[in-house]
Amino acid sequence: MTDHIRIERRDGLNIIRLNRPEKKNALTQDMYAAMNAALEEGEASDEIRVHVMLGVEGIFTSGNDIADFMKMASGGDLSGGEVHRFLHNMAGLKKPFVTGADGIAVGIGTTIHFHADMTFATPRTNFHTPFTDLALVPEAGSSLLVPHLAGHQRAYAMLAAGLPFSAEEAREAGLIWKVVEEDRLESETLAAAAALAKKPPEAMAIAKDLLRRTEREAISSRIDEEVRLFGERLKSAEAMAAFQAFMMRKK
Ligand code: COA
Repeated sequence: MTDHIRIERRDGLNIIRLNRPEKKNALTQDMYAAMNAALEEGEASDEIRVHVMLGVEGIFTSGNDIADFMKMASGGDLSGGEVHRFLHNMAGLKKPFVTGADGIAVGIGTTIHFHADMTFATPRTNFHTPFTDLALVPEAGSSLLVPHLAGHQRAYAMLAAGLPFSAEEAREAGLIWKVVEEDRLESETLAAAAALAKKPPEAMAIAKDLLRRTEREAISSRIDEEVRLFGERLKSAEAMAAFQAFMMRKK
């Protein structure tokens, strides 16, 4: 198991912390596997009431590890892999999911929050999904969720034009819950999660199901379709050129 994902379980909270600061918390297959185990165990546990995801100071995550993208490009299709499983795990959570982001939130570092029930972010957080710049396509159900939450033009700006959104813009677009100062991010995120953890769990599960039921199947099939297209794009010459440009940028 990787130590780039730290799990802490206390007071009904399943706290998943992304912890690979030397690579800006870029997510590897091992990290997805650890998050999958944490989410699946948390959903199954009577003790756990709420899932929480946090990064470290100044970094939520810079998205999927680009070296891993290059490895995936030479492998088979992405269906059934750890990333695909992670997306379905997030989309299918019955228990509340609270996220806190500070600073870098690139790619899946942005799209994770569209599966959260409450997201807190700091003023310096930059939500950025440069999928098309990498010759990729939107993922994690974002091509369905963002137009639904924020309308076509903001979805297009974020997911097709690849324009970054500040925390305030994301809040104003209905993509996140609250913007809080850096020194209050963890305390506010954990306090909100703790408050949810004290509520009657069955009623909480029914409420979440009612709120998400209409889109749930559509989100699940959109995730599958995006995974298929994403896998094809990963193998494209233009994507490989973009990954190589990133790897070589300091040389
Ligand atoms: N995959 C792999 N490595 C990554 C990474 C990623 N997604 N993001 C950052 N890193 C690595 C860098 O290669 C660098 O490693 P090195 O010190 O061995 O050279 C280290 O993390 C620090 O990153 P660096 O780029 O020097 O930090 P920065 O503060 O100048 O820039 C980012 C931060 C997030 C803006 C920049 O790293 C970036 O654009 N990363 C790629 C984001 C991305 O495109 N993700 C995929 C989205 S689908």
